[in-house]
Amino acid sequence: MKRLALSAAMLASAITSIAIAERLPQGRAVAGFSTLLGMAAVIPAASWWRDRRRRKALSGRGPLSVDDLPTIPGRVYLGRGFEWTPRQAVELDREAARGAGAGALHAIGVADEKDLHLLEGELDLHLLLLGTTGTGKTRLLEVLIAQAIRRGDGVAVIDPKGDAGLLARVFDECRRANKPLTLIAPPYPGSSVPYNPVERFVEAREVADRVAALLPGGGDAEPFRAFAWEAVEAVASAMVRYREPVTLASIRRYAVEDPWALPRRLVREIAPEFAKLEPETMARRFLARRHPPAAPELERLLTLALRPREHAQKLLSALVPILSKLTSGSHRDLLSPEKGGFSWGELDRTRGVAYFYLGSLLGGDSAGAVAKMTLLDFQSYVGARYAYGVEGGPLSLFVDEMADALSAPFISLLNKGRGAGLRITGSAQSAADFEAALGSAAQARQILANANTVIQFRSPNVEDAEAFSSLAGARLLPTVSDSEAYEPALFRSGLDIVEDFRAIFGRNVAWRASEFVPPWAVTSLPRFEYFVRSGARVAKGIAPRLAPAPQDPVRSIQEGRGHAADVDFPDGPGGRGAGLGDGRNVRGA
Ligand SMILES: Nc1ncnc2c1ncn2[C@@H]1O[C@H](COP(=O)(O)OP(=O)(O)OP(=O)(O)O)[C@@H](O)[C@H]1O
Ligand SMILES: [Mg+2]
Repeated sequence: MKRLALSAAMLASAITSIAIAERLPQGRAVAGFSTLLGMAAVIPAASWWRDRRRRKALSGRGPLSVDDLPTIPGRVYLGRGFEWTPRQAVELDREAARGAGAGALHAIGVADEKDLHLLEGELDLHLLLLGTTGTGKTRLLEVLIAQAIRRGDGVAVIDPKGDAGLLARVFDECRRANKPLTLIAPPYPGSSVPYNPVERFVEAREVADRVAALLPGGGDAEPFRAFAWEAVEAVASAMVRYREPVTLASIRRYAVEDPWALPRRLVREIAPEFAKLEPETMARRFLARRHPPAAPELERLLTLALRPREHAQKLLSALVPILSKLTSGSHRDLLSPEKGGFSWGELDRTRGVAYFYLGSLLGGDSAGAVAKMTLLDFQSYVGARYAYGVEGGPLSLFVDEMADALSAPFISLLNKGRGAGLRITGSAQSAADFEAALGSAAQARQILANANTVIQFRSPNVEDAEAFSSLAGARLLPTVSDSEAYEPALFRSGLDIVEDFRAIFGRNVAWRASEFVPPWAVTSLPRFEYFVRSGARVAKGIAPRLAPAPQDPVRSIQEGRGHAADVDFPDGPGGRGAGLGDGRNVRGA
């Protein structure tokens, strides 16, 4: 509005000057100058009009297509917004004192509103989207994923909740970019590529980490997790040593159901003379043999198997149900393929796109379990990529509802992933969810501390609001206080009366370190509005609203109409028919 007033003032003064120019000395020059001034009045008016149009388009009235997003190479579009500077912070304070509501949050900077972009390099330092349910996290994730696919990053999306809109978006973007999509969707086995989440590892202990991550830890639960870890590690080491494919199904069989099956087979190979003995005798004789060929893995396995069965069964009681769910029925083929299936190496090499659609049909436990193992498997791949200096482009990992997929070992990836071309973007409703998932407030804080960019939507939770406020930091802000005082102006000596009073008005500006974004501003953000802190920069933004992507491919998966590669896509700008990548026969690094 200021720009409109400026424009009107310029126009009015130009018209007045032209009208009286004849009566002035140097009238022609004045008239010429005034004409120029009148013409220049268009500039602020035009800029106001342009911003108004953009604001209308973006603040929800007209949904955009991904093509309409004002993207810039090397930058990531986040929506419309403005830099949050001390000027806005002071203005907000003033508006709040006048009793202004949540609407004031954006209104105070709307004149400076522009397209908000993040430097692509900032993504390497990871991004977190936080906010209560329904505030727009997943939809903004869509915007970020669409840009990552268009940039040509290798992209993996882990969706523990199974958001059909998000999957539809990824399908659509793959179609446009003419890229195949590898879909891992255990709730819809007919449409899913198989995936063995324990296939790739550098050391057997990683397999144990992945399986133990499915169990709660800390307190009374810790001995159960520790035993499960030990049992799985021993089984996995032996399987590696004797070249058995490691799958969840084989771990279930050898660690839980039949702890003698693997040692018996291996003893038969190494020392056939003991193999016919009853298992416990076999184990004791094998362990006591005089001239043994070195077989430390087998010895460990035998020692474990010799533990009282009931004791072992009790300690594995937490592991059995979750492992059974992941290895029964259609999940067995899908999550325990001995060969082939999805591989991170292949995704990386081909700059592919993979979507882990876990979803409610799978049940919360199982969806979370697959998500956790997938993240740790990814972590192992990234570790190897980094250690062996594999050249590759950026890998973007998006995790919606990140708390469901978190386990303690994953935190180290956030620290170490920097520099490995890894871009992790996660969403969560509250940092308290991280704490619940990890069982530790300190580890939950580490997640927040390791994200360079935090986009905070509204949170009713005061702790979250305070956490964001402290991330945004404090700035020296002016606090203005007015004072007024009346005092006798003139005293005469003795008992004479006061004849006059004088008033003293004062204005005092004190500079104090104050919250740059006060917590109350975070708790009162309107839906789809956010504060973003990236490094030392803070901005206030509104998420763009995308028109929903076509739902047909998702519907055909949900209705069990087979492998989505069969879905016939209409012709689109990106060419025809990007279906699912046939990851079934692909083997990765
Ligand atoms: N930028 C936006 N402009 C207008 N409407 C939006 C915008 N973003 C989201 N919406 C609407 O709000 C709904 C909820 O958004 P979204 O699913 O992204 O929320 P969420 O934060 O992911 O919630 P949850 O935590 O429950 O998953 C969407 O279905 C959409 O209709
Ligand atoms: Mg969501």
